[in-house]
Amino acid sequence: MKVGVIGSGMMGAGIAQVSAAAGHQVVLTDVALDRAEKGKAGIEKLLARQVAKGTLEEAAAAATLARISPAGDTAGLADADFVIEAATENEGLKQKIFAGLTLAPHALLATNTSSISITMLGASTDRPDRFLGLHFFNPVPVMQLVEIIPGLATSDATRAAARDYIGTLGKTAIVSEDSPSFIVNRVLCPMLNEAIFALGEGVGSVVDIDTGLRLGANHPMGPLTLADFVGLDTLLAIMHVMQKASGDPKYRPAPLLTKYVEAGWYGRKSGRGFYDYSGEKPVPTR
Ligand code: CAA
Repeated sequence: MKVGVIGSGMMGAGIAQVSAAAGHQVVLTDVALDRAEKGKAGIEKLLARQVAKGTLEEAAAAATLARISPAGDTAGLADADFVIEAATENEGLKQKIFAGLTLAPHALLATNTSSISITMLGASTDRPDRFLGLHFFNPVPVMQLVEIIPGLATSDATRAAARDYIGTLGKTAIVSEDSPSFIVNRVLCPMLNEAIFALGEGVGSVVDIDTGLRLGANHPMGPLTLADFVGLDTLLAIMHVMQKASGDPKYRPAPLLTKYVEAGWYGRKSGRGFYDYSGEKPVPTR
């Protein structure tokens, strides 16, 4: 199958990697060729690390890489069978991308959103019946789950094809209703937000809050480490969507989260969040 991935950031590159590793031909597009090439270079690094660890054959890594073609526009998606958009979490931007696409009549189009309405995004495309949400988790090569989110107009055949594709990746699919933040983020993001409230109110330090949840609830990462990992801008956008859609004040973003995003402290990707990532090891900032 030919898979198109729009957006070569953390999520898009991960989706391209697992699709190529599963044997699909992949076109990885971004707004400029050098960005898409940077996404592919990141994949190359991750594969090289696996080869060095002995968990991946060198030939398999080379074959995976050879199946990924970076592109600076979406022209190469014209004959793709399955196109997955993984651009920034912004509904206007996503709609603009869909409006600029020329896809084959049979092609399925998916959005990797973590919270935006699939029905609304689907209605802005030329194929609401062949459109759906596919929510991957970060880091994509490691996380086993993908949420399938059908919109109101998504056909049964589209759902089945999405499930088949996820099966080829060796991942597990669950189905969520098209409800703000779907299943996992509905539960996870308020927990991360609550940890930031606790930090802002001085209930505990960064290290104590993270250690608390790691050792007291067996989470693989503390919530502040995970918030930095997800991206504080992304987390804030998700809380805004949940608050706006539900009108429930329980989803209001923690003031400290808003402040950090205003400062440009987006977490790991910007070099600073609740930890400072400029050195060899992350250093807690509060
Ligand atoms: N990309 C690719 N692979 C990675 C990776 C990355 N960024 N980070 C770690 N890995 C791989 C490692 O190479 C290693 O692979 P091998 O087993 O083949 O050696 C494996 O993951 C385990 O890594 P480590 O031993 O270095 O570290 P760890 O045991 O602490 O695991 C982790 C790292 C898998 C990230 C783990 O800490 C974890 O599961 N954290 C929670 C992640 C999580 O909750 N993600 C969901 C975020 S929410 C989301 O994505 C949805 C949204 O819309 C916001």
